[in-house]
Amino acid sequence: MRLIIVDDYEQMSKTAAALVADVIRSNPHASLGLTTGNTPIGMYEELSRMYRANMLSFRHTNIFCLEEYLGVGPEDERSLFSWLSRMFITPNEIPADHIHRLRGEDIEPQRACERFDDTIRRIGGLDLIVEGIGVNGHVGFNEPGSLMESRCRVVALSKTTLDYNTSYWNAEVPHYGMTVGIGNILEAKEVILMASGHAKALPLYHSLQGNVHADVPASYLQHARHLTVIADKEAAASLAFISEESS
Ligand code: PGA
Repeated sequence: MRLIIVDDYEQMSKTAAALVADVIRSNPHASLGLTTGNTPIGMYEELSRMYRANMLSFRHTNIFCLEEYLGVGPEDERSLFSWLSRMFITPNEIPADHIHRLRGEDIEPQRACERFDDTIRRIGGLDLIVEGIGVNGHVGFNEPGSLMESRCRVVALSKTTLDYNTSYWNAEVPHYGMTVGIGNILEAKEVILMASGHAKALPLYHSLQGNVHADVPASYLQHARHLTVIADKEAAASLAFISEESS
């Protein structure tokens, strides 16, 4: 594991964007699994700035949106895919046939999750996954209790996640979600985990320095093939006794 501790949200965002840009420059055909939420917004803004400045092209990249709410299609204001579209896909002009989403509106959602899983497999697996961490230690919508070998699936959202996500929308938060599984995340060649703010300090500590346990799904990332954690000082507060850039 590589741990990068930075001063603040802006530095976290720029550091993450630089790492994503490195992956794309070394492999323009890279497949990226991208998350939503407040944590990655600054990173997406920075990547979009690089794109506008002709420093980066996403013409050949494949984009997978890693989470969605059940029963929510792209036209719904709560659609996480639409959020990612506004933040990243549209500003960076990702070709439509390179965009992959969990179809929240599908009448057979579990089948839709399995198809998403198949697409990831068919494309040769994900080169990079970018995730945030939940205040309850979830990663994606893999809530406490998730298994290490879990795949793309429909999940019940925890009360903590429902409460947290109410700040995103004016509408009610759906009680179920669709998510890539822990197994999918661990198969990715590289994972970047971002964390910012005091609320993430304890979950980050338990994830990186506690036992690997289903109660803290992000702790499974200790088994990632190549994990880079980028945390600002507040999120890293409980990790202060280990050195930066440690392995
Ligand atoms: P946040 O959400 O980035 O909005 O803090 C992260 C998460 O719950 O996974």
